Formats: sequence, C-alpha cells, structure tokens
Amino acid sequence: MTSSINETLIRATVTRRENQTDDIALFELSAADGSALPPFQAGAHIDVILDDDTIRQYSLSNAPGEGVYRLGILNDPNSRGGSKRIHAELETGAELTISAPRNHFPLELAASHSLLIGGGIGITPMIAMAYALKAAGRSFELHYCSRSESKAAFLAELKREFGEQLVLHFDDAGDAARIDPKALCQDAVQGSHVYVCGPGGFMDWVIEQSKAAGLPDAQIHFEYFSAEVDISGEAFEVFAETSGVTVQVGPNESIATALKAAGVKVQMSCEEGVCGTCICDVLEGTPDHRDHFLTEEEKEDNDQIALCCSRAKSARLVIDI
Ligand code: FES
Repeated sequence: MTSSINETLIRATVTRRENQTDDIALFELSAADGSALPPFQAGAHIDVILDDDTIRQYSLSNAPGEGVYRLGILNDPNSRGGSKRIHAELETGAELTISAPRNHFPLELAASHSLLIGGGIGITPMIAMAYALKAAGRSFELHYCSRSESKAAFLAELKREFGEQLVLHFDDAGDAARIDPKALCQDAVQGSHVYVCGPGGFMDWVIEQSKAAGLPDAQIHFEYFSAEVDISGEAFEVFAETSGVTVQVGPNESIATALKAAGVKVQMSCEEGVCGTCICDVLEGTPDHRDHFLTEEEKEDNDQIALCCSRAKSARLVIDI
C-alpha cells in the first residue's frame, strides 16, 4: 500500500461553507479548474492536505454521483490543530489541496438489511451510505446518536431525505431514546450488516454489542476517526531495506519515530493507527499490530505494518521503506 501523499492531488475550491452547529461546519468542494472530480462510493474519504505535516482524513457525506465532495468537520478542541485550521481558514471561495477519494469502508449493497449507526461527527460516512442504499432501493435504517438536537448536524436534510428510516438518539432525551445495538441486531433480519462510525469508545461498544448479538465479524463494518493507542513494549530492531538503515526501537518509541531520527522519511497523518498513511510492507519478522486500520485478515497475513504505532513480536523486522 502506498502513502496517500504520493497519489494524485487535486486543487479544490470551497464552493459552499455552512455552519451547521456551533462546532460543525459543512464544506462543499469542487475542482478549482472546473473539471469533474473523480467519482466516489459511499464510505469513501479524502485527505485534506494543509501542509506536509498536517494531512487529515474526512469522510464524504453527500450522495455519490453529485459531482461535488461534501465534508462535515467538527472543530474538535482535542484535535492536533487540523480541524481548527480548517474552521478558521476555509471560507467559501478558499482553495485547498485534497487527495482523490479512497474507500476503506465499503457498503455491501446486496445485504438484506443495513443498520447504519453514526455517533456525533461519525454520522458523515453514514449519510453517504444512506443515500446509496436509498438510490439502490435497499432496506436500511440510519441511527444518529448525538448529545442533543442542537449538536446534531445535517438534521433537517436527514429528516427530509430519510423520513422513518432515520432514528434519532439524543443523550438528553432520556433512556427511552438510548440506542441498544444488541437489540437492534437481534431484531434485524437474517443477513443484516452493521456499519458504525464515531468516537472510539462508542464504536468499541457498538461492535462488542453487535458481536454479542451473534452477528459474524464479516457483517460488522467500522471506521475509526481516532483511537487511544498503546505504542509501548519491548525494544526491537528494524531494518529499513530500501533505505539501507537499521534502527533500534526503544520501549516507548514508535518505529516511525526511530526511523525519522535516523533520517528515513516516513509519511504519517493521524499517528494513532487509524488512517493507513504510514502502512508499510513487512519483508521479514512478525509485527505486533496495534492499529485500527488493517482488517483482522490483513493483520493475520503479517505482511503490512502501521509504522506510527505497531511493534514487533520478533526481535527484528525487515520493512520495505
Ligand atoms: S499515520 Fe495514520 S495509521 Fe499511522
């Protein structure tokens, strides 16, 4: 897998900015030169490249096929500065650099029924999925979990477009409004798929409840925005074969940090094991996977590693960088 920064970049213009809540804004993007933007599928995201060290991933939240990319971005006080800069700098008419869409969160359009569950700003990929399922005439329900109605973005549109398929769960609306993913999965028809996006703890809970309801892993789909990641462990050695550099990775250090200190350029974005930008091929040795990006099957193959957070089970790794 190659880093996103090496892919074709697009100059885009903000054709519409709309503040949806006090901390969530909608940004609609078109190609700056007026050409057609590459098409995307529901679940896809783009990189927004603010500078070499500030690359952020955002899900596309509009109906695929509309010819624009629409982002919903939370001005997150806990962020490392990307969303804050976007909110401060990107007004209508501003230009920015983005990547083409990539999709690590695809829909199984053929599923008998789809349960789309978005927590907070995690609603964004779910909206694109709901549009795709509606267009295909498939059975689905869209669950939107938010602290309160005033914190929920896109609400008028979702009510208008999805009617009874939209189920709202506001924390301040009492226990009756609380989502129960286990019951939803148990009540869903055979062959239903669950999709979840939102804060890490919320996602972990929905995934665990879906599994507890008996849903097979292959029918549970998720995309993490951010995650707590423990990078600590025993020291080990890494040989970066393409660069011809060997480094020792200390107990509280990441492979990426050790490589960077030795002059090897490692491209990263989230630094939390969720975006995939730092994924690198493993040529020898056994990774100790700590990321939320690779699938369980990919992790079992042991031929890729997230350099920002994963470690080694073997004393030495040889990687293709
Ligand atoms: S930088 Fe995002 S997964 Fe490593």
